[in-house]
This record gives sequence, C-alpha cells and structure tokens, in this order.
Amino acid sequence: MVIFKKIKDIKGYLSAKKVAGASVGFVPTMGALHSGHLSLVEKARENGAVSVCSIFVNPTQFNDKKDLEKYPVSIDADIELLISAGCDVLFLPDVEEIYPGGESNIKAYDFGYLDTVLEGAKRPGHFRGVGQVVGRLLEIVEPDHLYLGQKDYQQCMVIKKLVEMMGMSQVKVVICQTVREADGLAMSSRNRRLTEPQRVIASLIYQCLISIQTKQVSGSFEIVRKECEDILKAKGFAPEYVALADANSLTLLSEYKQDTPMVALIAAKIGDIRLIDNMLLA
Ligand code: PAF
Repeated sequence: MVIFKKIKDIKGYLSAKKVAGASVGFVPTMGALHSGHLSLVEKARENGAVSVCSIFVNPTQFNDKKDLEKYPVSIDADIELLISAGCDVLFLPDVEEIYPGGESNIKAYDFGYLDTVLEGAKRPGHFRGVGQVVGRLLEIVEPDHLYLGQKDYQQCMVIKKLVEMMGMSQVKVVICQTVREADGLAMSSRNRRLTEPQRVIASLIYQCLISIQTKQVSGSFEIVRKECEDILKAKGFAPEYVALADANSLTLLSEYKQDTPMVALIAAKIGDIRLIDNMLLA
C-alpha cells in the first residue's frame, strides 16, 4: 500500500494509473477502522480497480467539539488493517492540506431539507462539514466509484446530492449494507468507547428496528415509536429520535405506507456515546 499525505502526490499517482486505463474505487473514512470499513475497501477493489481509502478526522463536521476530542484515533492499527484488506492507496492528509488557510476557503453546500431533519436537526452544521470534506476529497481523488456504508443513511443521501450538485455524474455512488456484530449492533468506530455493560445493551437499537419492521401490520407507527422509546429509556438510553421515513425523500411518516419504500431510523445516546442505525423496511 502506498501512503500519500500531499494532494499533488496522490493526484500525480492516480492520474498515471488512470492514463494506464485503471479505474478508481474510493472509500472516505475518519479512521478507527472496523470490518464495515474493510468490507467497503474490498468492494472498491472489485474488477481490478485501484482502491483508495482516505483517513481524515474532519473537524468541520463535529458540531460538538467534545465529540471531536474523544473521536478514537488508531492510525497504526488502521494502516495494518488496510494492508491486510489489500488496499492500494491510503490518503492521509493533515488539516492544512484539506483546508489551506482555514475552512472558510473551502466551498460549502446547502442540502436543503436533508439538513433540517433527523441528523441535520440534531447536529447543526454536521452535513455542511461532511459536504465540504467529501467535496474536497472527490476533487482530489476523482474516483469512478464511491463506496459508502448504509449505516449513515442520511449521510449517503447527502453525499449523493453533493455528487449531483458538483456535476460529477461520472462518480457512481455505491451504498453497501451495514455490517453488524453477531448481536445485530451496527459496526461503528464509536462502539469501541462503549463500556462492557453499555456494549451488552447496545444491540437494543437493532432490536427496536426489527420490531418497527415486524409491526408494520399494525398500521400506526406512532404506537410502535412510543414502545421503542420507552424500551430504550428503560434500559438507560436517551433516544434522540425513533423515526419512520420515505426511503427516497426522507419525508417523515407517522403511518406505515403500503406503496412507499420506507426506512426506520434511530439515534440514541448511551452515556455520552451517540449511536445511530437504520433499516430499510421489507
Ligand atoms: O462517515 C464518515 O466517516 C465521514 O462522515 C466521512 C464520509 C468520511 C466524511 O468525513
């Protein structure tokens, strides 16, 4: 695996590969890698593409500075994992490389409605920061395929919109299934901060999603939402939202709909650790 810290170096390397006919599969990350990330890298290598992973803990997407300070960093272990997953290129820039002269110099995008609901409402400024950094990374890497995990469902929608707004229709956004622990907990870099007792109950979020899925026959989502919130609270979670939405537009729904693709989404805190998960309803 080749590691680049400077934009001009990775650009030079990738443009030579592209001239030689290679396609590029890109996985942006903030490090603290787990099997979910590695499964994206494996996808990025499909069909002989040059797989590129970036690790950059993006300060502009942390609306809560304490969250940024506590964000797990494990760069040496990440490098080992990427090598074992067969990653070809790691881009490891510093803040000055991504935001030369400060973040105000880098274009920010307006995601409209998507920035006003669920994650957008709970984490003001978060998607603005995600848009800034992913926009910058896309201009640098210019991938053919961009691989994202469904765990961050709303982020996937935001990034798809970003690609459209940037006029980069040549970039195919590939959303990959959430990778889960044996008990259903969605893999996340934040999971490593869970204490043992917190880890034991963390899969309750997944169980709530399953119950939202199975209780579709009841028609009314409001009752199921209340049940889930009560169960989560009883076990010591602070739920931020338990929501049902149109899977294409993220319009919130209070009733299950028969002819609409739906997604259930949950965000809840255990202690100071914020977990999110979602499930497309079948
Ligand atoms: O999902 C993440 O890890 C980050 O939000 C991303 C897409 C790498 C942008 O910093």
